[in-house]
Amino acid sequence: MAILKIARMGHPILRQVAEPVADPTDPSVGLLIRDMVETMQDAGGTGLAAPQVHAPVRVVTYFVRGPRLEEGEDEVPLTVLINPVLTPLDDQIAYDWEGCLSVPGLTGLAPRHRRIRLQALTAEGETIDRAVQGFHARVLQHECDHLDGILYPQRMDDLSLLLFQEEMRFGAPERAVELMEKNNDQ
Ligand code: NI
Repeated sequence: MAILKIARMGHPILRQVAEPVADPTDPSVGLLIRDMVETMQDAGGTGLAAPQVHAPVRVVTYFVRGPRLEEGEDEVPLTVLINPVLTPLDDQIAYDWEGCLSVPGLTGLAPRHRRIRLQALTAEGETIDRAVQGFHARVLQHECDHLDGILYPQRMDDLSLLLFQEEMRFGAPERAVELMEKNNDQ
């Protein structure tokens, strides 16, 4: 077990497209997963993608709980995804705040698909195929973007809504409030 170094925005590993995992049950993959979980928990993150810890393979760890869950959404326990593939289920987009362990101190309002289909393998090599929505769908899109070398600021359509988290003490920008209110009209 080890806490791994987290790459920050600007490091070339974060721009790389990660390779698929050939065998999820390979012991080296199990070792990486254990270290990723330990690193994610140590850093206080909700999710971590392998490229963030300098491993250019398609592995994601995450969980979803707490106040950002939308009504009717269930908590998601600690989950490992191997070779995940996301497909939007419709055209609906929602805006919400995101942060990233590779972009420390900042937060930004990013648009994401509201409903997606998730296909992936578990660490045991079993198939996952399910529909996901809301904050869970957002976390997945953020983490899977890392596997394609994309960070959340690249998904933003208004960079005036990229802020230092500490400055949120002055309140969210009016434009952000408007965009998030639109989420509720859908
Ligand atoms: Ni991230």
